[in-house]
Amino acid sequence: MPAMPLADAIVLFGATGDLARRMLLASLYFLDADGFLPKDFRIVATARTEMTREAFLELAHQTLSERPEGLDPDVWTRFAQRISYVGADATTVEGAARLCPALGSAKRPMFYLAISPSLYERVTVALAAAGLASDDSRIVLEKPIGRELESSRVINTALGAVFDESQIFRIDHYLGKETVQNLIALRFANTLFEPLWNSLTIDHVQITVAETEGVGDRWPYYDEYGALRDMLQNHMLQLLCLVAMEPPADMEPDSVRNEKVKVLRSLRRFTRVDAAEKSVRGQYTPGVVSGKSAAGYETERGQKSGTETFVALRADIDNWRWAGVPFFLRTGKRMPEKRTQIMLQFKPVPHSIFGLASTQDLMANRLVIDLQPDEDIKLTLMNKAPGLSQGGMRLQSLPLSLSLLRTYEGKGGRRRVAYERLLLDVIHGDATLFVRRDEVEEAWRWVDGVADAWSEARLEPKPYAAGSWGPSGAFALIERFGKDWSD
Ligand code: BG6
Repeated sequence: MPAMPLADAIVLFGATGDLARRMLLASLYFLDADGFLPKDFRIVATARTEMTREAFLELAHQTLSERPEGLDPDVWTRFAQRISYVGADATTVEGAARLCPALGSAKRPMFYLAISPSLYERVTVALAAAGLASDDSRIVLEKPIGRELESSRVINTALGAVFDESQIFRIDHYLGKETVQNLIALRFANTLFEPLWNSLTIDHVQITVAETEGVGDRWPYYDEYGALRDMLQNHMLQLLCLVAMEPPADMEPDSVRNEKVKVLRSLRRFTRVDAAEKSVRGQYTPGVVSGKSAAGYETERGQKSGTETFVALRADIDNWRWAGVPFFLRTGKRMPEKRTQIMLQFKPVPHSIFGLASTQDLMANRLVIDLQPDEDIKLTLMNKAPGLSQGGMRLQSLPLSLSLLRTYEGKGGRRRVAYERLLLDVIHGDATLFVRRDEVEEAWRWVDGVADAWSEARLEPKPYAAGSWGPSGAFALIERFGKDWSD
């Protein structure tokens, strides 16, 4: 595939919003600091609010100064020179046209829509009508791309009428996380794991994305979506795809994405019976998280709600590699700790040569990939416990750890914002870590099946106290299949 020329500008829609200021501007600043922004790269910030360039720079300066990394005055001076601000309603042609002077001679802008997804379609149409959508431009947008298959198709079709698929960069910020990319390296840059990476050796897989925060004032969005659509449809299925996909021929965008789509297509459809047997919905009630009392979801929402803030389910991948290997996915708000983890549990040894007591110590090997809060990869192995014992040697499970945090400390070890990688890739036109239309739609197709099964089975969210690991049903769910959560 011919490489796209480097982008020469970014137009940041929704520039005064939280995402744009806290994540995107910060990422662009760090890219600049590390010399990754092309020399004359322009940053056109735009939002409906009318304000002067100086006022916007002040806002940006304040946001960046609040970051733990601090601000380098020289980098800031260089960075600020790139920035202009345009107050405009970009859903109208007149509004979009107001961006032209700020773009100046830039010919290959990337349009980053850090705005409500309900505006994606109108902004895209306005950009085209204002003559801004050229063959070398690109558009970047984030989830939620639709609320189900049908609405996601409407957005994708509108985008496709203006931009070629190769110009559309759908962000899943989890793909920008270092350890998620490391998963690709772990699987395909080592010979060790791949022969074991299948149903002959792997007993089951767990993917946990636990957050301590609640929904707070995001409820107008969240109440419409819930944990299934907010986290599982995108971030968690992306992680599942990277764990489960076949080795791609190379790292070309379509090679990787073709393999991910095959996984999504192999997911077994949920039925009404599966709803109760293989899934649990939960909603947090008041409790204590990290020593502080936390309100329940309905108090934040201000009224009763049938939206889940927790979901656990068993997914099955019906293909040769994974037949019979359950994938347990679990995500929730107001959990006791922040933890994003992938755990592959290997099968137990087929026969124990050890005495009774030692056999009780035997634990199946696990490969644990921690994404958050710390990045780490651990392989648990059985060892002989040191020292003397009666009645045969005692065994102990110990982790062989890559200690990513310690290994890379002080070696460019600043923890990067996931958007840095992704923005740099858009500048270079590399779509490997972005989600293709058919991926989004396949993910929705499967998630719609889960949502339909829930409503047919009338599966309501079960309460769980803030600060707990979800409703008791989540433990019963995994125990039903003879496993335990890896807490
Ligand atoms: C977002 C969800 O996509 O991801 C949020 O909308 C969630 O609800 C967030 O809190 C989690 O991201 P991270 O990077 O903090 O795990």
